[in-house]
Amino acid sequence: MCGIVGYIGKQEASNILVEGLSKLEYRGYDSAGIAILKDNKLDVRKYKGRLAVLKENLDKNPSKGNVGIGHTRWATHGEPSDVNSHPHANSSGNIAVVHNGIIENYIELKEKLIMKGYKFLSETDTEVVAHLVDMYYEGDLVEAVSKVVKDLEGAYALGVINKENPDKLIAVRKDSPLIIGIGEGENFIASDIPAVLKYTRNIFIMEDGEMAVVEEDNIILMKSDGTPVEKEVYTVNWDVEAAEKGGYDHFMIKEICEQPKAVKDTLSPRLNKENQIRLDDISLTKEDLEKINQVYIIACGTAYHAGLLGKSLIQKYVDVPVIAEIGSEFRYNDPFIDEKSLMIVVSQSGETADTLAALRMAKEKGARTLAVTNVVGSTISREADDVFYTWAGPEIAVASTKAYTTQLVSLSLIALDMANKKETIQKEEYNELIEELRLIPEKLEDILKMDDSIKELAKEICESEHIFYIGRGIDYDVAREGSLKLKEVSYIHSEAMAAGELKHGTIALIEDGTPVIALATQDKLYDKTVSNIKEVHARGAKIISLGKMGNTEIAKSSDRVIYIPDVVDDLSPILSVVPLQILAYHVATLRGADVDKPRNLAKSVTVE
Ligand code: AGP
Ligand code: GLU
Repeated sequence: MCGIVGYIGKQEASNILVEGLSKLEYRGYDSAGIAILKDNKLDVRKYKGRLAVLKENLDKNPSKGNVGIGHTRWATHGEPSDVNSHPHANSSGNIAVVHNGIIENYIELKEKLIMKGYKFLSETDTEVVAHLVDMYYEGDLVEAVSKVVKDLEGAYALGVINKENPDKLIAVRKDSPLIIGIGEGENFIASDIPAVLKYTRNIFIMEDGEMAVVEEDNIILMKSDGTPVEKEVYTVNWDVEAAEKGGYDHFMIKEICEQPKAVKDTLSPRLNKENQIRLDDISLTKEDLEKINQVYIIACGTAYHAGLLGKSLIQKYVDVPVIAEIGSEFRYNDPFIDEKSLMIVVSQSGETADTLAALRMAKEKGARTLAVTNVVGSTISREADDVFYTWAGPEIAVASTKAYTTQLVSLSLIALDMANKKETIQKEEYNELIEELRLIPEKLEDILKMDDSIKELAKEICESEHIFYIGRGIDYDVAREGSLKLKEVSYIHSEAMAAGELKHGTIALIEDGTPVIALATQDKLYDKTVSNIKEVHARGAKIISLGKMGNTEIAKSSDRVIYIPDVVDDLSPILSVVPLQILAYHVATLRGADVDKPRNLAKSVTVE
């Protein structure tokens, strides 16, 4: 979610850090900072905003020294601000820390540290690490960091420096990427290879639970408990541009492939071992929920499609009527909103004009508001009463992929938490759904392995003029997202239809060979959907159906079948959308389209 760089050697560290960070801005860009060691001083500079703000400060007032760490942030805990930016220091300003990830038990650690007299300046989870290093430091930095990581739960790549040990920087990781760049008379740490590629192509790739003690002429690798580790040097043979995309050809496919990790990041900090959901700071109590008699879910585009699943789940499990609508329609439809309404707005960017307008309208009329967004500190996150962050990390490609799946997971957690609080769900059912959610990342990994076969399918349909998507119930919601994905990146005309509605008009467009992508993952609607598939098949459509593993029956009325791992019906969209994203991606690249920046589109739509 963020970019880390560290340098130790003979050159000016600040130049190398800023240069390195500029290659990592795709990982986060809401604030940037560095800490430099020189002459028994630790100089920390950190600012909200793009890296250019930090650079401008350093140009005016250089920070001189040959050892340092730097960070470009994608906030998860605490809005983007100077004080929340990294590096974070201990109170005496001896120790500086940069962090990528989320320390899940930071509240507990923070409380303990406060009891011991530690004072906190920021709202971040990261600051606990700086104070913990201080607490454990007794002259040996390596030992102190080893002790700190034993206390940490969650995901982290950390870079640590200390005024009293100016000859080393320490780096350690768990569930967040980290590499060590091997130079001559100088060495580097970084979240990702592009940051060091200008200086070296020789890299150690760190694994979970590993720590590196990096000195000017030496790198010691060990497990975080001190056990030595041997590692082969990896020599990079690709260029910087490819490296920023992690070796992928486009951000879109990179982000599709990041979904198992993104979903895990959304999910695991919110669940404890007893299957209880911890919804960050959301303050809606049982009493609040009991007062609510109407829920609105308002969003645009892909976020609206995610909202449709939220509607199904809340309506089913929380026993309250839900209206899901697109922002630009909702705001001009004279909606009835009062203080007994809850409005949930869903927005990756947190800046979409129509979604924001709906949120403001709801607030004016006294409704409770809850935002599901990916961007900490965005306008929507600041204005809503409560916020749930999707923690998908920056999404660069215009076509939304990992933001959508993490929105689905977020809305599932919100629905289940509400149902649990209101006691409108049976305990067994609740537990079953939580257990199923925990399995999603693994199942997503399995779906990603189908890339080659989906590419073959893409070759069969990429010349088509029209492609239809059909489904019933929540399959129809996913069909809409699949269709949007395809049209926005490939420019093929596409429509999604409720499968049962086809024969009321759209079926007239089906000709010999027209591709129809039919979703049939819902057990209770299965037979009905199959009948609709047969209707279009009989009129010459080329049927590509999408069903659950083990359902061989569906193959009889299809030309091709995409199977997804078995999953409880209510959560199937989190899986079934992924083959459709991959299909859209391959169709678009086969047609030579600019997938990451489709024509006429922008990532953030801040106009009506
Ligand atoms: C989908 O791929 C698009 N990027 C678009 O539909 C997007 O979801 C919509 O503009 C809403 O954006 P938001 O989530 O940032 O509010
Ligand atoms: N959780 C940390 C923060 O919010 C680090 C986020 C990141 O990885 O950029 O400051």
